[in-house]
Amino acid sequence: MPEEKTPDNDRIEAAKRKAAFKAVEEHFDSSMRFVGIGSGSTIVYGVEAIKAHLEKNPPADKHMNWFVPTGWNSRKVIEQAGLLPIAFDSLPGDAMLEVCFDGADEVDEELNCIKGGGACLFQEKLVACRSKKFVCIADYRKKQKRLLTKWPSIPIEVAPIAHASVLRELRIIGSPDAKLREHSMAKTGPIQTDQSFYIIDAPFKTLLSPQDVKDGKDGSGKDGQWDVDALAARIKMINGVLEVGLFHGMNGYETQAAGLQGGQKPV
Ligand code: 5RP
Repeated sequence: MPEEKTPDNDRIEAAKRKAAFKAVEEHFDSSMRFVGIGSGSTIVYGVEAIKAHLEKNPPADKHMNWFVPTGWNSRKVIEQAGLLPIAFDSLPGDAMLEVCFDGADEVDEELNCIKGGGACLFQEKLVACRSKKFVCIADYRKKQKRLLTKWPSIPIEVAPIAHASVLRELRIIGSPDAKLREHSMAKTGPIQTDQSFYIIDAPFKTLLSPQDVKDGKDGSGKDGQWDVDALAARIKMINGVLEVGLFHGMNGYETQAAGLQGGQKPV
């Protein structure tokens, strides 16, 4: 069913587009060889901005820029814009991507993100981790002091054969209400990812903020209180988990959130 158009929707779409154009203006240029393209509704504006940039500033060679998708939809968006897609595994040797643009479901003050609302988190992380720079395009609704403030749960991609045991272990580590993501409309059964895996949405108590961690609060999971790094590592340890939708401490990467830099008014 198409989304109802309301003034609020218009404002949100305008904010997404503005953040995307700002991100591309600041972090993309026509000489870039490999660029990652994430998934979701915001990145569509990112691709629109890249296309506009390339029209204004054509590269020296029309086969200069290659775009690495993070799923089927992302690939479609790249192709529909007339850009050149290249599969992750077709990247030459140890080539790195100059930059990866992606959206997020929630972002904290150190730019740790929750991702996976669109069920693409495994490929998104794969591509982000092969990029010199990860640029998260997020509008004013998404920045919070602590993750899990408004976005209710952490998406986790799991092997179908192990989903029940993953759910059991998640309950033990503090997510009694974790559940398999199901189709909501005419189609029934669990949603499948591009890897034919399942998604579990795991609510936890609000995570510690980067400031809480600096203040020395214990985020090791005792009393159900986790910091982002510890929880991501703990979930990743569960047998059957392919990837967790916490993008945290992208160490060695220059992580930016367009539209969210400190002191700036949200776009
Ligand atoms: C998909 C994602 C998306 O980037 C995230 O859900 C944000 O989507 P949108 O731009 O539609 O708000 O992680 O798995």
